[in-house]
Amino acid sequence: MAQFVHGGRDKRRFIRHMFEEIVPRYDFLNRLLSGGRDVTWRKRLAAVVDLQPTERLLDLACGTGDVALQVGRRQPGAQIVGADPIPRMLDRALIKLPALQPVCCESEALPFPDGVFQAVTIAFGVRNFSDLQEGLEEVYRVLARGGRLGILEFAMPEKGLLSPLYRWYLTKLLPRLGAMFSRGYAYQYLPESIAHFPAPGDFSDLLASIGFDHVNTEPFLNGAVWIYCAHKG
Ligand SMILES: C[S@@+](CC[C@H](N)C(=O)[O-])C[C@H]1O[C@@H](n2cnc3c(N)ncnc32)[C@H](O)[C@@H]1O
Repeated sequence: MAQFVHGGRDKRRFIRHMFEEIVPRYDFLNRLLSGGRDVTWRKRLAAVVDLQPTERLLDLACGTGDVALQVGRRQPGAQIVGADPIPRMLDRALIKLPALQPVCCESEALPFPDGVFQAVTIAFGVRNFSDLQEGLEEVYRVLARGGRLGILEFAMPEKGLLSPLYRWYLTKLLPRLGAMFSRGYAYQYLPESIAHFPAPGDFSDLLASIGFDHVNTEPFLNGAVWIYCAHKG
């Protein structure tokens, strides 16, 4: 049975509270709980969207700025906007990447005109949108024609030898490790929210139904983590 809310206004309130609490330990826990692999995935996401010097990128749900940082390292002159509803997340992102243009907002109501970004990245963010469809429609709106969308997100791993082990890690060990280093329920919410999120095939179909073309996927860790890449035609 679900312990958490997975959509609507109650989810919005709950998500904000959860991320506000976790800010000070967020980066440390990412490295610890992924064994440092999260940095590699974010680097790959930056490579997939391949921002060019004159282009403008929106890193949505940017958190403490780890994806923006990778994009900025690849393309130091490019304009990078980091958007997140939690001001303390944006403060941390600015320490890492002082050139970042921070915007405090939610995906469901982006304060940007149509078609102003050549690329959008979202790492471990879409799962937290209170309205997934609305958030992705907003992303489509603010992307320029020919623009690229890169999404990094967890999924329940495909069936295979390592799958039961990973599920045990995700549902049993990870919440305990998370609780040792942070107050609150973020690492209990994580496995449940992954289970509630569309499977990779369904999520790709959702992107296509919104209007994105050339939806490509790249799995990592036996399908526990995915990069989705899509274009606005
Ligand atoms: C798991 S963190 C990911 C942060 C960062 N992208 C990374 O790779 O570490 C999720 C982020 O999504 C943000 N968030 C939550 N709800 C959101 C929404 N509706 N729109 C945009 N961002 C949201 C949270 O504040 C949080 O910083």
